[in-house]
This record gives sequence, C-alpha cells and structure tokens, in this order.
Amino acid sequence: MKTTVATIREMKASGEKITMLTAYDYSTAKLMDETGVDCLLVGDSLGMVMLGYEDTLSVTMEDMIHHTKAVRRGAKDALVVGDMPFMSYQVSVQEAVRNAGRLVQEGGAHAVKLEGGAVVREQIRAITDASIPVFGHIGLTPQSVNAFGGFKVRGQSVGAARQLIADAKEVEAAGAVAVVLEAIPAPIARIITEKLSIPTIGIGAGAGCDGQVLVYQDMLALYGDFRPKFVKVFADAGEAMRRGFAAYIDETRSGAFPSVEHSWGADMDESELAALREL
Ligand code: KIV
Repeated sequence: MKTTVATIREMKASGEKITMLTAYDYSTAKLMDETGVDCLLVGDSLGMVMLGYEDTLSVTMEDMIHHTKAVRRGAKDALVVGDMPFMSYQVSVQEAVRNAGRLVQEGGAHAVKLEGGAVVREQIRAITDASIPVFGHIGLTPQSVNAFGGFKVRGQSVGAARQLIADAKEVEAAGAVAVVLEAIPAPIARIITEKLSIPTIGIGAGAGCDGQVLVYQDMLALYGDFRPKFVKVFADAGEAMRRGFAAYIDETRSGAFPSVEHSWGADMDESELAALREL
C-alpha cells in the first residue's frame, strides 16, 4: 500500500509508529521499499555519507534532484521526501517555492523537507500553498553547523527547550505535514509530540516521537567518519562488504575467480577453437 501524507497523519492518530530511512540511490531504495519502510528521505546528509564532504553545506539542488530521481525509481510504495539543500530556500520565499517545485517536478519527490523553525515559517506556508507537502526539521539542524559551532544536542536548557516548543508550533501552524526532531532531549521531544497534531519523526530524540529516522549508512555501519550517540547499528554491513571485497581480491589474484560457472564457452567445440587459434 502506498504511503501518503494522509497515511502518516492516520498513523499518528492510531499510535502506529512511522518508519523512515535515508536513501540516495535506486538499489538501496528498492530494498528498503520492499522491506516495508513507510518513508524514504533523500537527505542532504548525502553530502557526507555519499560524497565525502565534512558537512552538508556543499550539497546543491542538482545533487538533490539527481539522487531523488534515483530513489523515486526504486520506491514503489514509500513516501519519498526530498531535502532542500543549504541556500535553496533561505534567500527568498520565491526561490524556496521554485526549488521545492524542482524537487517534485524534476526529482519526483512526494514532499520536501527544510530546516528551521519560526525563521522559515513564510517558506513553509508558501510551499504548502503551492500544494507541496512540507516536512519541518528542528533541533540540531546540520545546515547551521557553523552557527551552532558543531553538531551538538539542542534544547538542553529550559530557555532552549521553550524555543524548540515554540518553533515546533510555528512549523505546524505554517502548514507542515510532519516535523523531524533531531538531537534533542527525549522528554522535550515527547512534550512536542503531545502538543502537535502533525507527526514528529525523531532522530536522537527518544522513544516518545511518532516515528524514527536514521541515516542508513549509520545503522548499517557503513560510515565510520563520525557516529553520533543516538545511532544503533542494526547490521554490520560494513564488515560484510569488507569480507566480500577481500574474498574477491584473493580469488582474482589466485585465479579461482572466474570459474567455469561464471564464464561462457565451456561447451565450445575444441576443433573450432583450434581453427580460430590458427587465424
Ligand atoms: O539529511 C538527513 O539525512 C536528515 C536526517 C538526519 C533527518 O536531515
């Protein structure tokens, strides 16, 4: 069954947890979709985990469209959310709407996500008015890494928690269909979840959210540069890949690969081959 924004609204109402994973390519998106994940986020985290930048700031609209298209081709049922990269929505409301439109029209996204609370309320309102569902994103917003002075937990003081709650309400009032809560104390995320009628999707925000999202390279131990405290490794695919690569190198070097099983021509006539050798 296809997941839509109506589906995730109903899931919040019925208390069914929403599952979201990041995806950046066709094959992985297809695997996740077949496994039954509800939403696929083409996160601008691709700058770090796919492209090797040290933060998400270098990611462009072209990068996002390219990867969103691939994910959309692999997603039969999951709701595909395309992330709006740094500087694609901050400069003006008009640019925000145009770029959100590109993610939908050129990338095939069903919805877009952008970072920030009250400061992006006009953008959320205008994109929503253009009939594009918007996911908000508050707490640790990686595009503000330089303003925050690093990737740090947010909302730990009472004042900061108040600001987060106010931002969550602004995002909802502006028309967002859901909001990602990143790296905030679990009790604050639970309060926000209780206060909002739209679903909250947590990442490092505890069990009280309506759903969870993880970067797949983190939960499969494929990205070792940096592992936040909130990441649980569900399978060590990094180790499985290392073993596979090493076996391939060994067998190729020893001549064990490719065997007859992986080649054509074992049944070719020897006399015909001999004639070919004479040419
Ligand atoms: O870009 C991303 O992957 C994200 C998630 C961390 C929520 O925004």
